[in-house]
Amino acid sequence: MSRFWSPIVQSLSPYVPGEQPRIPGLVKLNTNESPFGPSPAAMAAMRAEADDDLRLYPDPEATALRAALAAHHGVRREQVFVGNGSDEVLAHAFAALLKHDRPLRFPDITYSFYPVYCRLFGVESQVIPLDSAMRVRLEDYAPGGGPVILANPNAPTGVALSRAEVTRLVVENPDAPVVIDEAYVDFGAETVVPLVADHPNLLVVQTMSKSRALAGLRVGYAIGDVALVEGLTRVKDSFNSYPLGRIAQAGATASLADERYFRQTCEAVVEGRERMTGGLRQMGLEVLPSKANFVFARHPGRSGAELARALRERAVLVRRFDAPRIGDYLRITVGAPEQIDRLLEALGEILA
Ligand SMILES: Cc1ncc(COP(=O)(O)O)c(C=O)c1O
Repeated sequence: MSRFWSPIVQSLSPYVPGEQPRIPGLVKLNTNESPFGPSPAAMAAMRAEADDDLRLYPDPEATALRAALAAHHGVRREQVFVGNGSDEVLAHAFAALLKHDRPLRFPDITYSFYPVYCRLFGVESQVIPLDSAMRVRLEDYAPGGGPVILANPNAPTGVALSRAEVTRLVVENPDAPVVIDEAYVDFGAETVVPLVADHPNLLVVQTMSKSRALAGLRVGYAIGDVALVEGLTRVKDSFNSYPLGRIAQAGATASLADERYFRQTCEAVVEGRERMTGGLRQMGLEVLPSKANFVFARHPGRSGAELARALRERAVLVRRFDAPRIGDYLRITVGAPEQIDRLLEALGEILA
């Protein structure tokens, strides 16, 4: 605390990211990173970009990257916004689109950055509990309410709504901006990007951090009606005109061109998730049905804190949230096959 802090800073309770410890042999399953490297084509493009041109500012409009994203998703370039990780894109969405007279609606259990942004941007919120199966109840997002933000699949539960369900939400709330955060959509859920053509209130946010294994590069993006993208751009250009450097733009663009690697690695994560889920259930854990690159699981007889501690002692790092309703759950990232083996072995020992 400092008397030099502005009043808003005194009132913040910042997001706490998962740890990034450097422990040799650590099985790191706490931050939903990809166990596979980025596309070799993306690596080559980034190396090639690391040259004398780095003394020059990057393209402030990330024209090539936005064109590649537009082609990939079947939309126009003007419908694509890019930022320094989807966290930054989300932050701009809070400032540009989600601050209105009516409170912003989101679930009690969801990405914990949403309440943090509410405080930072002075957005009033209406927190709506998930049902007992940790599902979003669409009836709770009735017409006439404020803007909505949902992660789909949700985090940290991994549970997904179908495209038909999200469509219903968007159609029933035509006068409210609806932001769908699809950070994990490539691991088996249904994207609602095709809906943006007909729904000017829908903004879909995605990231290259998970399915494209580029968390360290910080590239996220949003797709929506041109007017929504213009709103985001107005905020971006009032904050930082160059959110993505040259290397990030080159690597992200090249990653999109390597569809084969993208599909292979996503499929490998899905396979790993199903094997991990099966192994955990065999040991008596309850595992929520996940469409993400992580699972959310608890043991009926052991506390989450105890399990997380015992795993850590065995050099397996998972994420636990000290929060109401979910304190006994572990959020476990789907690792490489040998990491999944290590996790299951360690849990087997702990529960024996
Ligand atoms: C639901 C959700 N949205 C957005 C993000 C942010 O991802 P990034 O800023 O790396 O794009 C995360 C990261 O964990 C997430 O879980």
